[in-house]
Amino acid sequence: MSATVFVPRDSAALAVGAEAVAGAIAAEAQRRGEPVRLVRNGSRGLLWLEPLVEVETAAGRTAYGAVAPEQVAGLFDAGFLVGGKHPSCLGLTEEIVYLKRQERVTFARCGVIDPIAVADYERLGGYAGLARAIDLTPEAIVAQLTESGLRGRGGAAFPTGVKWKTVLGATAAQKYVVCNADEGDSGTFADRMLMEGDPHALIEGMLIAGLAVGATQGYVYLRSEYPQAKRVLEEAIAAARAAGYLGADVGGTGRRFELELRMGASSYVCGEETALLESLEGRRGIVRAKPPLPALQGLFGKPTVINNVLSFAAVPTILARGAEFYRDFGVGRSRGTLAFQLAGNLKRGGLVEMAFGVTLRELLEDFGGGSASGRPLRAVQVGGPLGAYLPASRWDTPMDYEAFAALGAALGHGGIVAFDDTVDMSKMARYAMQFCAIESCGKCTPCRIGATRGVEVVDRIIAGVARTRQIALLRDLCDTMQNGSLCAMGSMTPYPVLSALDHFPEDFGSAARAKAA
Ligand SMILES: Cc1cc2nc3c(=O)[nH]c(=O)nc-3n(C[C@H](O)[C@H](O)[C@H](O)COP(=O)(O)O)c2cc1C
Ligand code: SF4
Repeated sequence: MSATVFVPRDSAALAVGAEAVAGAIAAEAQRRGEPVRLVRNGSRGLLWLEPLVEVETAAGRTAYGAVAPEQVAGLFDAGFLVGGKHPSCLGLTEEIVYLKRQERVTFARCGVIDPIAVADYERLGGYAGLARAIDLTPEAIVAQLTESGLRGRGGAAFPTGVKWKTVLGATAAQKYVVCNADEGDSGTFADRMLMEGDPHALIEGMLIAGLAVGATQGYVYLRSEYPQAKRVLEEAIAAARAAGYLGADVGGTGRRFELELRMGASSYVCGEETALLESLEGRRGIVRAKPPLPALQGLFGKPTVINNVLSFAAVPTILARGAEFYRDFGVGRSRGTLAFQLAGNLKRGGLVEMAFGVTLRELLEDFGGGSASGRPLRAVQVGGPLGAYLPASRWDTPMDYEAFAALGAALGHGGIVAFDDTVDMSKMARYAMQFCAIESCGKCTPCRIGATRGVEVVDRIIAGVARTRQIALLRDLCDTMQNGSLCAMGSMTPYPVLSALDHFPEDFGSAARAKAA
């Protein structure tokens, strides 16, 4: 009987040599005449351990990491095909504390299965949500979503059930389902990991959305920087079509749902839903004024459900296991789980899926293991490039949308980027303004002009030119951007700028320090 060995085909694993490791295992197995079935799974999200090789043993899956190609012969010598001891052996995968402590719901299958194989997906509960949805009326599907408390995982945290209800209620000959897979936030990779590790979860979520609102066509708008996700999605969509889930007769119901992939335009603002729709229609990605809402006049002017990858990927579980199962995770109005992505200066970067309510400190210390540099952590940016910088005094706040809003911060897409005490926060404030100036779509003045002026003002503060006046000017400018911008690009850029100024005034010179005191 052949041993089953798993080597991830996820981008993060490929970036550190997973392809060479897979090749070395296949070659060594052949050389020794030991039959091996090589499965190219997704990542478990323990990124510092990639390439993480797993072997199916009698006791369960045993992990080895981080494996280098030159270690492969030694692994065979150590009998790794039956879980043999080796310096890189991490024991049973499910017992690794980083993984064991998590509450994996959306990512339950990620890294476990062959991402393309429909049979693998079905074996672990896949397409059961679709089967349930087929038996329900569209109104009942939407009601499940509403009761689950699911809020959009792309950043704005808008209730998914409310959005779907609006599209369901709209009358039109054609409706669309669009997946926002642009994932432009710094330090985020959860959408990619899901698409590369469990793409059928996204496909199934979009299919259920189609049934719920009466849409027959779906598009995944994928950032062009994700070529591996593109490959995996293309293969998975073809497999879903071959299995009869996609096409003219979804699951034998006589109902149609087609799904196509479109590559993005490498622009941060194309992740904003209306700019994304412009781009999808073949135009430059410029934000549209709202109303009309995309739910009523979205893609090609038709009612459109547009959701983030992880919002769609949560849907199959909600349908299969019931709204209550999902709602039981979380705190307050933040229900379910969030995929926290640990990045920046941390020892153990990776994906941590937990119910809302876990604290930032637990994520940074218990999971992240503190800084990679060994120096004290000083600032953490939560929620992507438009998220606030938080000092240690705020790290005990529970990760929950409302608690973060009360701090003048946002959870966004769950990206967490840590900095040690060598960071200069005035430079980070400058970077935030510069990022906005570069990525602004240019439609509205507060963002287009404001961000450019913002860089100049921060430069003067850094140079010590009339600091008190320039700091007052910066606050005034942030107020204008916050209240006068058309979309969150301009209105949220003040988050990183003002949080840096308010929490780390010492980096902006004595004028800022005196003001903060
Ligand atoms: C500048 C900007 C960039 C955005 N980028 C993304 C993105 O990359 N992915 C995403 O899902 N949402 C992004 N959003 C949020 C979307 O506009 C929208 O809220 C989301 O796609 C809705 O899906 P959800 O309700 O499932 O979160 C961005 C918003 C702004 C203002
Ligand atoms: S805030 Fe910036 S990105 Fe948004 S519409 Fe205005 S110019 Fe465009």
